Amino acid sequence: MSSDRLAAVVATAREARLRAIAPYSHFLVGAALVTSDGLVITGCNVENASYGLTMCAERVALFKALSEGHRSFSLCVVVADTDKPTPPCGPCRQLLWEYCGDIPVVMANLTTVTAELRMQDLLPLPFDGRLL
Ligand code: THU
Repeated sequence: MSSDRLAAVVATAREARLRAIAPYSHFLVGAALVTSDGLVITGCNVENASYGLTMCAERVALFKALSEGHRSFSLCVVVADTDKPTPPCGPCRQLLWEYCGDIPVVMANLTTVTAELRMQDLLPLPFDGRLL
């Protein structure tokens, strides 16, 4: 992906972050999943008073995309307002691996990209359908 195109996807994830519903943690996260045919599907974290029912930005984006029929993905972007990278949590890694495979995950804050890792590095020795 060109650097201009990546910058545009990161900007889209930053916009999605502004729609986060995070009154408990105040930690706003935006995500953008790029489909293999170039569509960008966004997500933001959605918290709940139970805390445990909170849904991460990555899974919101993934479930939106899957429910709209998308099955092939090329990139995930995660944005938070932090100096250090915000990587996907464990459950998000499991689901991203299963439905997106070994895609790059770009982490960014409000001004710059902070890290880029492939899914196989974020989730080494995954459990997946091949082991069933
Ligand atoms: N969160 C995400 O949405 N994605 C991540 O990658 C890390 C954490 C959310 C969950 C919760 O709403 C808040 O950030 C604090 O954990």
